[in-house]
Parts: sequence; C-alpha cells; structure tokens
Amino acid sequence: MNEGKKTFYITTPIYYPSGNMTIGHTYTTVAADTMTRFKKMQGYDTYFLTGTDEHGQKLEKKAAEEGLTPIQYIDRIVAETKDLWKLMNIQYDDFIRTTEERHTRIVQQIFRKFYEQGDIYKAEYEGMYCTPCESFWTPTQLVDKDGVKVCPDCGRPCQPMKEESYFFRMSKYQDWLIDYIETHPDFIQPAKRANEMLTNFLRPGLQDLAVSRTSVKWGIPVDFDPRHTIYVWIDALSNYITALGYGTDHDELYRKFWPANIHLVGKEIVRFHTIYWPIMLHALGLPLPKQVFGHGWLLFGADRMSKSKGNVVYPQPIVARYGVDSLRYYLMREMPFGADGNYTNESFLIRMNADLANDLGNLVSRTVAMIEKYFDGIVPAWDPQTAEPVGEELRKHCAKLPELVDEQMDKLQFSQALTEIWKVIGECNKYIDLTQPWVLGKDPEKKGLLGNVLLTLAECVRFAAVLIGPFMPSTPERIFTQLGVTDANLKSWDSLKCFGMLPDGIRVCKGEALFPRIDVNKELEALGGGEKKEEQAADKQEKKEKKAEKKAEKKHEEPEYPAEISIDEFFRCKIQVARVLACEKVEKSSKLLKFRLGLGADGERTVVSGIQKYYEPETLVGRQVAVITNLKPAKLAGIESQGMILSALDDQGNLKLMTVDEGAADGALIG
Ligand code: MSP
Repeated sequence: MNEGKKTFYITTPIYYPSGNMTIGHTYTTVAADTMTRFKKMQGYDTYFLTGTDEHGQKLEKKAAEEGLTPIQYIDRIVAETKDLWKLMNIQYDDFIRTTEERHTRIVQQIFRKFYEQGDIYKAEYEGMYCTPCESFWTPTQLVDKDGVKVCPDCGRPCQPMKEESYFFRMSKYQDWLIDYIETHPDFIQPAKRANEMLTNFLRPGLQDLAVSRTSVKWGIPVDFDPRHTIYVWIDALSNYITALGYGTDHDELYRKFWPANIHLVGKEIVRFHTIYWPIMLHALGLPLPKQVFGHGWLLFGADRMSKSKGNVVYPQPIVARYGVDSLRYYLMREMPFGADGNYTNESFLIRMNADLANDLGNLVSRTVAMIEKYFDGIVPAWDPQTAEPVGEELRKHCAKLPELVDEQMDKLQFSQALTEIWKVIGECNKYIDLTQPWVLGKDPEKKGLLGNVLLTLAECVRFAAVLIGPFMPSTPERIFTQLGVTDANLKSWDSLKCFGMLPDGIRVCKGEALFPRIDVNKELEALGGGEKKEEQAADKQEKKEKKAEKKAEKKHEEPEYPAEISIDEFFRCKIQVARVLACEKVEKSSKLLKFRLGLGADGERTVVSGIQKYYEPETLVGRQVAVITNLKPAKLAGIESQGMILSALDDQGNLKLMTVDEGAADGALIG
C-alpha cells in the first residue's frame, strides 16, 4: 500500500541507442522532467524513469556496421545520452538498460510465467517483419507503396519471415481490453488515440503475437528454450516494472510506485503501450498504468525527425548558444502537447526574444530597477492608507495562477500552463504602462501608491519565478537573486497559497538581463539558417530570371509594330558596336552572363544578358557585338546592367548574337 505522501511515477519510452538522441527524444524527456518537478514541488513523492532499449536486430546491425560488438556500440551511445540528459538538467531517478541483469532475469521470469499459465504457445510463424520498427505484420496489414508492400507504421519495406516462434494469445484478452478502455476514459490520452486503438486494432480483432525469434541473437534468451530470444517489445515494455524491482525480494519501489501515473510516449508507439502492455500486465495479474499519453511529433519540415531518416536536429549546439532553459521553454511552449509541431530555428529565436527577453526579462529588470530607483533598492511595505485599485484585478489573477497552472498540468497541457503564466506576465507589463511609476516617482505625495504598485509587481514576479521552475529549472534562482529573496519558503509552491507573502524590507539587486535580446537574422546564420537564406536568395534569383527570360522571349516574339515610325524615332535608340573584354557566368545563376564591354572612346560598361545557355563565356571574349547603350539601366542578379546586347533566333530557336563585319570600330554607332 502507498502510505504517507502521495506518489507520482512517470516514465519516458526507453530509447533505442542506435544513434545519438535528438531534439525529438529530448522533447519527451523534458516533458517528463517538467512534470516530475512540478509534482515534486507540489509535495508528491515522485519517481522518474528513463533508459535505453538495447536489444534487437537493428542494434546488432548498427554495431556490426561500425565493426563493434553491440554492447561496445551501445555503451558509447548510453554514455552520451546520459551526458545529454545532464546538460538538459534532467533529474531522473533511474536509468534502466535492458541489457542489465536486473532486467533480463525478470523478463525471462515473466516469459516463463506466461508460458506456464498457457498464455504463450509454440507454433510456426509465417509473416512479414519490419526491422526498423521491430514489428511483425500479416500480409493484409501491409500497405501498398508504389507497388511495394511496406510497413504501415514507417512506410519501409518488410521482409518475409518464416520461423518457429512462441505466440502470445492476445486474442484471449481482446474483449476484456475493449471493455477496459471503454470504461476508463483517462487511460489513453488524448482521447482520439483511444478511438484509433479501438477502431483500427481492437474491434477488427487481435491476432496472436509472435513473441520470440530464433534468427535474432541479440536479445534475451527464453530460459527454457534458449534457441529463442524474446521479442523486443515484450522485453522493452517490462522495463517499467523491472526497474522498480518487480519480481525480486527488493520490490519496495514496485510496491510504492506501481501502477505508474503516466507513461509518456510518442504517438507512434501508443499501440504497444495500450494493447500489448495492458494485456501483459493483466496476464500477470497486475494493475494497469493510470494513463498512457501519446504526444505528437516534433517535425522538421514535413517529416518526423528521425535518426533513420537523417533529418535531425540535436540539442547541444542550441544549448551551447542560448542556454538550456531557453530550449526547454521553447519545447514545452511551442506546440500543444498531443499535437505535431514544426521545429525551426526561426520560431525558437522569435520566442526567445518575445517571451523571454521582452516579456519576462523586461518585467524583472523594470521591477528591480524601479525599486532601486525609488526605494533605494528596498522592497517597500504595503501602504494600507493608500488605495491602489488599478492592480486589484492583477493581484486576484496572480493569486489564482497556481490553480490555473495546476489545471493545465493535470491534463499535461504544458503549453497552456505556460500561457497562463505568460498572461500574468503580460498583464504586469501593461500594469506598468497604466500606472506609470516614473510619473508617480516625481510626486512625493504618491510615494505610498508607488510602493503599492512596485510591491504588487515584485510579488507577481515571485509567483512567476516559482511557477516557471519546473519548466526552466535554473531561471528562478536568477530571478530570486535579483528580487533579494533568499528564504527557501518563499520559493515554494506552498508560498503561493496567498498573494502578498513577499516581505518588505528585503533588498533587491539588479543583475544581468535574464535573456538578452538577440538579432534573429544574425543568429539564423550562425545556426546554419544562412544556408536557408542562400536557398531563398537562389529561389528569388530563379524567379527573377524566369521573368527576365519571359521578357527576353517576348522580345523575340513578333511585337505589335506600328505600321511606320519616323527616322527620328529610330534614332532615339543608340546602338553601338562593342567589344567583349571579359565575360563570365553570374554566380548562382543558371541563365545569366556578365559582360565587360569596350566602346572605344565611349569607355567601358557592364551588361548582363540571359544567354548562358547558348554560349561558353570564354568563346565570346574579343568578339564584337551590337548593344543598345542608352537603355535605362536595370539590376539583374544584383548587378547593374547598362545596356542590352542584340540577338536573333535561328531555326531551332537558339539565340545568335548580332554582330558586324570585321573592321568596325569599337563604339561605332549602328544605324
Ligand atoms: N525503444 C522504443 C520504445 C520502447 S518503450 C518500452 C522506441 N525507441 S525510439 O528511440 O524510437 O524512441 C521513440 C520515442 O522518442 C518516441 O515515442 C518519442 O517519445 C521520442 N521521439 C523521438 N523522436 C521524436 C520526434 N521527432 N518528435 C517527438 N517525439 C520523438 O520507440
């Protein structure tokens, strides 16, 4: 029985150490850490488990590619994973590795129990296997992609497989599970995922699941039939209880923390956690986790970031440049938990400036600076003689903030919880504009009012500092230092029970800006956004050229000529003979050539012409061409073109330069 403090047990998936962890894995892990810190702050006895899923064919292959044994390869990734979690300020209680004896031994025990009680039987397996997903599929479950039958989860080809295998009688538990899901609406969240499971998998009927392999060596052997290794998902899912000592003489943690409050997982593995795992637990006679929450994907472009697709963003360079709290904030704020969202450097930088530097940073620095300026740095006492009605709403709102945040956190709506906090921060900034402390400061009679305004602000800042702690663990202390709050009681959840706990008489201390404003364009370049800009520039260039090309084509179409023009009209065009002094391709353009033309006594000029397709630039040097030299200059690809070289089309539609017979002088007028 759980006694004393209320417990809270949360898990992340155990990640495949097939490569370094990305910002996607970091997303789930930061969410779990934030939740744990929040519950801990509220007084729960928390337990946070993460780890690595180290068996299976994929890892065996990956290690072999690098000429390493699986464990050599994995040890390195695990060490780097732990370093990353340290960098991200992740405070897990345990990190389980499925190659550890404490895990493998119990998984064997679980498997044996299933076999002994008749949930597992031995038969011949024939089907399709997706190695990247470590998933079995029946031929009818595969989907057609350009004539190839591929895995319905990841879209990659599957291999046919026939082997002796142990099977789990999933079908036996199907009706029980349907009923369980229907009667426990909180079990699968968001609710739409529950519908997906019922509609796509459970109601159509569960197949018995092949739960052992003879062809995979890198796995946990079935102890009573060692030719077989245990299917990775049976192995992996068990981690949530083996880590707690389930099945051992030291199962205190298990007894204290099971069932888990939340399994946090990405939406692609909800199926394993809400079908196989509950059935396994039920077969073991154990209670089910209270909730499986399937969050959305962090996308990069249109695709899910994944190591196997190679379109990944890693957190380390971002943290090195902007600090861990900025990234944690962004991950929890940018997209509603449950929905997909796009990671872009730009949206990250914009949020840093708007939310962190402007809203939060400015509020703290303005509040502290005004207390320094008008009260010599000492937080003023509340003046009961002076009514301060403008801040009444704000004080009430702020007093209610912990409850509002709690409501959102209860639903794992991290982004909404932060939005609630930022609403108060925004209101504070408006309150400064409304009350204009700099005006009050000029009038000695308004000292009481000014004090009440600044005390209100300082207390709101304290509330915000406490509440952002689970999201941004190192920021509150920096705020408390500036506010002069040293008493640990004033940094606690309990101290937010009523508004107005900030004692007067403490000394504020102006410090560095919490989050300096950044130059988004410059930073984008530093983060490799420069490439993106170049791409954009190239795109723009291409569009421009297309336009120019169209114009040029038009030039060669039959324009609607007037029936006749006067000789004077003709002579308005200054056409001259020019010699090509130099000619080169315009960088990043596939159409343009840049000419340096000599016009004899009329000097030299630059002309850009869209004829790259028709001539090698070197072949033109020395030739004479005809150029209109009094045409209004135009910029092409950023280069000012001071004229137009004349040309005509041949039979095949190729461009031919107009020229003059040998002997014409450079600069001579044509006409
Ligand atoms: N080993 C299994 C899980 C076994 S749990 C008993 C596995 N590992 S994984 O390395 O592929 O990790 C997948 C999980 O990492 C996702 O479910 C999600 O929690 C997280 N994410 C990895 N990339 C992600 C995104 N791009 N976006 C969001 N979450 C991501 O599956």
